[in-house]
Amino acid sequence: MLYIGIDLGTSAVKLLLMDGEGRIQKIVSRSYPIFYPHPGWSQQNPEDWFEQTMEGIKELIEDVDKSQVAGISFGGQMHGLVILDEEDQVIRPAILWNDGRTSEENDYLNNVIGKEKLSEYTANISFTGFTAPKLLWVKNKEPENFARISKIMLPKDYIAYKLTGVHCTDMSDASGMLLLDVKNRRWSKEMCGICQINESMLPKLFESYECVGTVKEEIAAKLGISPSVKVAAGAGDNAAAAVGTGTVGEGMCNISLGTSGTIFISSGKFGVDKFNALHAFAHADGNYHLMGCMLSAASCNKWWLEDIIGTGDYSAEQEKIDGLGENHVFFLPYLMGERSPHNDPNARGTFIGMSMDTTRADMTQAVLEGVAFALRDSLEVARSLGICLERTKICGGGAKSHLWRKMIANILNLKVDVIESEEGPALGGAMLAAVACGEYKDVKQAAEKIVKIIDTIEPDPELAAKYEKKYQKFREIYPACRSLFDIIST
Ligand code: XUL
Repeated sequence: MLYIGIDLGTSAVKLLLMDGEGRIQKIVSRSYPIFYPHPGWSQQNPEDWFEQTMEGIKELIEDVDKSQVAGISFGGQMHGLVILDEEDQVIRPAILWNDGRTSEENDYLNNVIGKEKLSEYTANISFTGFTAPKLLWVKNKEPENFARISKIMLPKDYIAYKLTGVHCTDMSDASGMLLLDVKNRRWSKEMCGICQINESMLPKLFESYECVGTVKEEIAAKLGISPSVKVAAGAGDNAAAAVGTGTVGEGMCNISLGTSGTIFISSGKFGVDKFNALHAFAHADGNYHLMGCMLSAASCNKWWLEDIIGTGDYSAEQEKIDGLGENHVFFLPYLMGERSPHNDPNARGTFIGMSMDTTRADMTQAVLEGVAFALRDSLEVARSLGICLERTKICGGGAKSHLWRKMIANILNLKVDVIESEEGPALGGAMLAAVACGEYKDVKQAAEKIVKIIDTIEPDPELAAKYEKKYQKFREIYPACRSLFDIIST
């Protein structure tokens, strides 16, 4: 049988076709626009997502026996607020995970309601990109839209809804709404009260590998597939990527280098850190995880190369880099503000340390290193909790670069396992569909059978020691700039 994994990303939807043995048959990608109506805001049209997903599925299965398609599932950009009215029409563009407009609502939640209460209700505190502060923003700034809300959903859930007619979500993605009691895997009545919404507006909760329904007749007809094709709930893109990289079980780690950068640590049991600096979310295998998320990762590299120095040749720029651990230039990668661990929507990208002999290659190197240093910030929070990690998997577009992987291994002092396919969320989505269809007993079995490590990058003690010194400098820069970011944001 064949399974479709849909990774509903920020710059594009990536669709992957996998057979029952876990072999990838085809991958297609379709992009859609992202709108930045103000600095630090980001929006997309859910209709664009659906249109491109439908076109993508058609292209994905154009050459195969369509009767073999058995299941569909997702990894989706997290936290985005999608609201529908009584006629199931989208009320306003979706407000995305990296949108920082909710400073006021975020402060209200963290300081007036209070972090202790939020943590008690949801296992997390508020971050500007989370869904609950966005709901409060719509209530405060667009009351006419708030009054029309009939259904609230996350990005990938809009696609599941359009495909099946079922208003559903999964535990991992729901964790990022700040509306879920993560520990008990149910909606928080207290949070619904705080956001002034009825629980009936929220989707039905499923585990990621559970079937939510089958595709509607009209959709099946458009795609040429059977209406008995099952749709599984899927997961937030990071939990789906963890499935796709085999980051399932106790104390496993995955780093995702996409538009965002995340460090994801799987756990058999529920846990939170003292300051809620890391997100404590449900995992797609039925367990839990901790996660640090930086808002701009591979997107910093793309911004620097394509928008600033004007080249699309990433490898040519990286080939000019030598002297790892010797760079005097540092870069703070906070182009959209920063989530973990600083929780600062006003933070901004910053180069520091240039001199007359600084080269273009030094600047490119600083961007790549800055992202790795910022990931290390989240790793340090995990280490402060007594979590000992020796190795990590890696996925996402940035993971294609051998140089970046080497920097990460040495800056984080972790062995980096490279897997056969870096298509984390799309592969994870297809694997969840296969579990829902009974091809595998559970997510763990699917991961054990499908994911293959093809290389490991070991940290080099000499280089890791050099980078350790650099990291100690890097971590001084943000605190020194913090008040300046507040000044320039006004
Ligand atoms: C995770 C997060 C991002 C998005 C990117 O908390 O906000 O990784 O999921 O799609």
